[in-house]
Amino acid sequence: MGLEKTENRFADLAGCVPVREPQRQFYFMEEMKKLVAEQEKELGRKLTMHVATFGCQMNAKDSEKLCGILEYIGYQETESEDADFVLYNTCTVRENANTRVYGRVGYLGACKKKKPSMRIALCGCMMQESHVVEKIRKSYRFVDIIFGTHNIYRLAELMYEREQTGKTVVSILQEAEQIVEDLPAVQKYAFKAGVNIMYGCNNFCSYCIVPHVRGRERSREVCEIVKECADLAAHGVKEVMLLGQNVNSYGKNLEHPVSFAELLREVARVEGLERIRFMTPHPKDLSDELIAEIAANPKICKHVHLPLQSGSTEILRKMNRRYTKEQYLDLVARIRKAIPGVAVTTDIIVGFPGETEEDFAETLDVVEKAEYISAYTFIYSKRTGTPAAAMDNQVPEEVANERFQRLLKVVGRVASAQAEKAAGTVATVLVEEKNPESGLLTGRMENNMLVHFPGEEALIGTLVPVCLKECKGFYYFGEIV
Ligand code: SAH
Ligand code: SF4
Ligand code: F3S
Repeated sequence: MGLEKTENRFADLAGCVPVREPQRQFYFMEEMKKLVAEQEKELGRKLTMHVATFGCQMNAKDSEKLCGILEYIGYQETESEDADFVLYNTCTVRENANTRVYGRVGYLGACKKKKPSMRIALCGCMMQESHVVEKIRKSYRFVDIIFGTHNIYRLAELMYEREQTGKTVVSILQEAEQIVEDLPAVQKYAFKAGVNIMYGCNNFCSYCIVPHVRGRERSREVCEIVKECADLAAHGVKEVMLLGQNVNSYGKNLEHPVSFAELLREVARVEGLERIRFMTPHPKDLSDELIAEIAANPKICKHVHLPLQSGSTEILRKMNRRYTKEQYLDLVARIRKAIPGVAVTTDIIVGFPGETEEDFAETLDVVEKAEYISAYTFIYSKRTGTPAAAMDNQVPEEVANERFQRLLKVVGRVASAQAEKAAGTVATVLVEEKNPESGLLTGRMENNMLVHFPGEEALIGTLVPVCLKECKGFYYFGEIV
């Protein structure tokens, strides 16, 4: 994209750039569209883009918005990382996520040497950490655009600025200035979608970087969430996953406070939606009202993801989780009593600073008692700037690794025993895809477990009853009934 041409264009622009959003971004998307069209003509082909997403559902959702902007501008998505525009939407929740990003950015640098017109952009949670941005500016100077979590909607403007100035553009906000919606987005699946109900987190668990990189809690208005769900349903979406770092605190800071249970009720009224999921409720403040709503509402999946983190009350206190082992187990018991057949899943961290063998034994004890159907397990990772990073008694790596292996075994045994219980029953399954190799359809049950079964491709995106013939630990083989 010729700099001279764009500088002239910049002069023409003076005074006509809208100040309000999202109009401002549509303006820059149109400008970028022209630049992309020019380059297409020069090259005699379409320009390609590749967006790689690391981390959680929030990032996946952000990437759908980023892809929407890039498609609007005229880029075609490609599997290959050797694309004209490559964007990494990064995660920093654990160190290994960061290491992977650095390695891959190094590879992109080599691609760009061969193709100088390539543009490389990095965004997401890692970029909210100043030491990361410093490192990239110093050691990966070929990166074109760096932005954070609070301004992803400004992608087109930042791209335009890069073309104007010819220099690396860095735009990181410490807090969100505004929530800008109503920009184009591409959905990964036609039949299921994530919907943000809130952004940020106020809990400050002592090990966790998320509140530092995602900012304070902000809830979206009920009417906006319901409108988004209704639009999705009108386009054929059957299942929505309501997303927030702690959905229990949804709506507390709205002008007219609303509870999460009330929001669920409203979303369930949306015609065409058949299944509602949500992630994540925090065990410290999961209300009886919410339990009752899950129990009573047929559209809400009978699945509660309830992150334990540790089974030791002492470690939970140091983690700033604000519940005890007993309170957690009591909550699980209340959930099981009110919602027969409910699936409970969890997240567990091993090797938190000061964790003793006795503390770890408490974690194993909760795994046995809570009867999880699956669990995400992590080795504690020290995050710069969090209180836990400065704590004494960091657990040696070998000790944490050894406990992690033992935890995996117990989780595996407990989870497959739970899964085995469902064998022979009939489950409702949302059909997601056909495996080209086995020729089998794959779908998800209410508890998020996978079932493989014979059937027609036309069933993709529909809910079908499937008899779970054979349990394979964390998935089943079944037959449509
Ligand atoms: N808001 C959600 C999930 C946040 S991140 C919640 O509160 O449950 C997802 C998971 O990553 C967490 O549940 C935790 O188990 C894990 N995690 C977060 N920080 C971590 C760290 N520093 N080291 C290891 N695992 C971590
Ligand atoms: Fe992190 Fe805790 Fe917030 Fe979850 S609730 S995002 S673990 S600080
Ligand atoms: Fe990672 Fe950010 Fe999610 S740090 S887990 S992508 S909120």
